Amino acid sequence: MQLNGETLVYGIIGYPVKHSKSPTFQTAAFQSLGINAVYVPFHVKPEDLEKAVEGIKALSVKGVNITIPHKEEVIKYVNEISEEVKFIGAANTIENIDGYLKAYNTDAYGFIRGLKELLEKAEKDISDLSFLVLGAGGASRAVVYGLLKEGTKKIYLANRTLEKAEKLISDFKQLNRIVEKTIEPVRLDKVEDYLDKVDVIVNTTSVGLHPEDKPLFDYEKIMKKHIIVDIIYKKTPLLKKAEEKGCLWQDGLPMLLYQGVRSFEIWTKREAPVEVMRKILEK
Ligand code: ATR
Repeated sequence: MQLNGETLVYGIIGYPVKHSKSPTFQTAAFQSLGINAVYVPFHVKPEDLEKAVEGIKALSVKGVNITIPHKEEVIKYVNEISEEVKFIGAANTIENIDGYLKAYNTDAYGFIRGLKELLEKAEKDISDLSFLVLGAGGASRAVVYGLLKEGTKKIYLANRTLEKAEKLISDFKQLNRIVEKTIEPVRLDKVEDYLDKVDVIVNTTSVGLHPEDKPLFDYEKIMKKHIIVDIIYKKTPLLKKAEEKGCLWQDGLPMLLYQGVRSFEIWTKREAPVEVMRKILEK
């Protein structure tokens, strides 16, 4: 596409940002629909975040994604936050409506849409299933928010630091009263006692990213009935074991894809070219 005086600018703000896949797949999405827009990386140091967000308005940048380490901090500098940002405490998308900045979090949507795609293969519904969610950090908040909104049978929330799981649950109790019965904190060293009770295991921790990482529990205890999701975008030892055991499994690529799809749709109000975007990510 030929850039010209009317080209719209979108981007991603991160630190570092050079590993982001968003510029490639978002630009492809714009091109595929013939939208005159570019999507560029913005390398922004933490101390410059406020100025960068002001810059979005000053430069009429139409929309941005926000990534590590700015997803929490950025909330302070926008005009409005969506409901999911309130609960998750982090934003990954900003829409610039003529100088008025609205922040969203599309990670929960991305996780749920990816999960639904996986569950379709097993002809199962989220609402009939029990989950073991590993981790209680930022990513876990998005996953748990998504699951609670969908309505699950039960969520066991396991974390190395139990207090963080308890804090997450108490924060989410504001969401609705059923949270109390639906979600329960579990010590990470006790998760093996819960494997019998759960249908789906979701890893939201960074464990498995590096070859030297110690497993979160004894993966040999995974059963064929388990559906395993890891939000890391590669085949982690957890996923390798899941495959070996004949489980249905999914890596983090669908979540990455669909969070981007949702951002694209917020900005453009058009249906995103999902298959174009997926093909680029799978490359
Ligand atoms: P993110 O935003 O990606 O979720 P985070 O907020 O730093 O990142 O959260 C990281 C999560 O991975 C936490 O649940 C963390 O456990 P603690 O709360 O106990 O720190 C978990 N985690 C990271 N390294 C881990 C490890 N080696 N073993 C177990 N859990 C780990």
